[in-house]
Amino acid sequence: MIRLGVNIDHVATLRQARRGLEPDPVSSAVLALLGGADCITIHLREDRRHIQDRDVHILRQVVPHHLNLEMSVAEEIVAIACAVKPDQATLVPERRQELTTEGGLDVVAHQKAVGDAMKKLHQAGVEVSLFVDPDSRQIEMSKLLGAKAVEIQTARYAEAKSVIERERELAQLHDSADFARQHRLHIHLGHGLNYENVAAVCQIPGVEELNIGHSIVARAVLVGMERAVREMKEAMLRCYVSRSS
Ligand code: PXP
Repeated sequence: MIRLGVNIDHVATLRQARRGLEPDPVSSAVLALLGGADCITIHLREDRRHIQDRDVHILRQVVPHHLNLEMSVAEEIVAIACAVKPDQATLVPERRQELTTEGGLDVVAHQKAVGDAMKKLHQAGVEVSLFVDPDSRQIEMSKLLGAKAVEIQTARYAEAKSVIERERELAQLHDSADFARQHRLHIHLGHGLNYENVAAVCQIPGVEELNIGHSIVARAVLVGMERAVREMKEAMLRCYVSRSS
């Protein structure tokens, strides 16, 4: 059974719109767990646009297992992660102007910075996953740097404009997952996944974890977090029938 990591950043986005106290992402994490979430994922960004330091500390206490902290390799954030000790840190690229994480981390170009951050996290006992594009060079370098897992980014698949393009991107995800499996890396997927496109990626052999945020939080606004998570778990089980077959 593939694990579902529910990314609750956008619950905090709504709170930060008024710089107030509600809705509290901590409450939403509890409801997501009740709905069947296997992991809770949060991104402590350097600009603190949604998740705040206080959230990270409280969530560490409330989520006993499988707290996944997305983070950049910035020294300040690495120090927080080493102190809080999430169950997993997922290293992602970060640019201030972007709306959300755009593209995978270029671990080939930034080997030293990524390697240094990983060393500190490993010394603190935190397992590391690297968020990378579906690209064999990035996956190979992730293995060389000592990552336990790669989160292969699914944005190009999710944003495909035609059936042909979507099938091509799905094939690329299959190939990348196969390559990661050969390198004995755990395989996670994330970015842009929703209730319609999730079933197909659940058919990719070896996938162990999905991290999904926006679509679940968007549905939760209307139907509540527990139900939104339950419905995503149901969507993950739906049999995928390729439209091209
Ligand atoms: N995985 C990673 C590494 C991310 O940065 C994000 C966005 O925060 C997600 C998954 C979730 O993406 P989405 O909100 O599009 O489901």
